[in-house]
Amino acid sequence: MSALKPTSLDIEPGDYLVVTGTSGSGKSTLLNLIGLLDTPTGGRYLIHGVDVARVSEGERCAIRGRMFGFVFQAFHLLPARSALENVEMGMLYNGRSRLERRRVAMDALARVGLADRIDADPRSLSGGERQRVAIARAVAGSPRVLLCDEPTGNLDSVNTRAVLDLIDELHRDGLTVVLVTHDEDVARRGKRRVVVHDGQVVEVSRVARASWTSWVWRPHASGRATWSGNARRPCCGIGADHYLRRLARCLGRRRSS
Ligand SMILES: Nc1ncnc2c1ncn2[C@@H]1O[C@H](COP(=O)(O)OP(=O)(O)OP(=O)(O)O)[C@@H](O)[C@H]1O
Ligand SMILES: [Mg+2]
Repeated sequence: MSALKPTSLDIEPGDYLVVTGTSGSGKSTLLNLIGLLDTPTGGRYLIHGVDVARVSEGERCAIRGRMFGFVFQAFHLLPARSALENVEMGMLYNGRSRLERRRVAMDALARVGLADRIDADPRSLSGGERQRVAIARAVAGSPRVLLCDEPTGNLDSVNTRAVLDLIDELHRDGLTVVLVTHDEDVARRGKRRVVVHDGQVVEVSRVARASWTSWVWRPHASGRATWSGNARRPCCGIGADHYLRRLARCLGRRRSS
């Protein structure tokens, strides 16, 4: 059985993609494939031209760490550790010194409006605050893409709005966002909507927002489509680009030797 059938999707820097579909349709699978948490059994996945099937596990980890930040419905914060420690732990494997991790974690928590809760145990925080800690952890390493799986699924409407406003703000500052949701109001926040049905992308449409022209794309028989918007270039961290350029050169050398 395949969780996700052949499908084709291009994501441009600066995009804000919302993934919708019924339960079990393959939304989380799609997100996990994008974030290199899962490995596809077929097809090709290129990140900045690098075919991720051709890289080693270590290189996959390095790409994942540089490119992606993850936010989940259930927060996945460690209890009995402070908010600050939780955010620091997200940077354990990206080569920063302990002191630098602390500084960056404090900045990230300030960024999400929790500068005064750095010592709090996640169990003492509200759902919205926990999700903001999780977002701080996700963005502390300056990823290029924020991958959110039902980030507001456990939140009331007030906290939902606060978390979505924060994600909007991070997107405005240059972060590419891919967000899975069941909620129609949440889906309207995106720039483009991807509908997944029975493990296949069946529709990609631009979300109608003030200045955006509405259009709908339906995959033709080959399931192949590309498009590019006038997305802004992200302004945060050059680590991922630099690493991927180097890796692409290295793969080219491996192929020719
Ligand atoms: N690792 C896996 N191997 C095989 N099948 C899987 C795997 N993970 C999920 N599935 C199956 O693939 C389908 C899609 O699952 P997925 O979790 O992506 O759905 P979803 O759209 O995120 O659902 P929900 O809205 O309930 O979270 C389901 O039928 C699920 O049982
Ligand atoms: Mg899911």
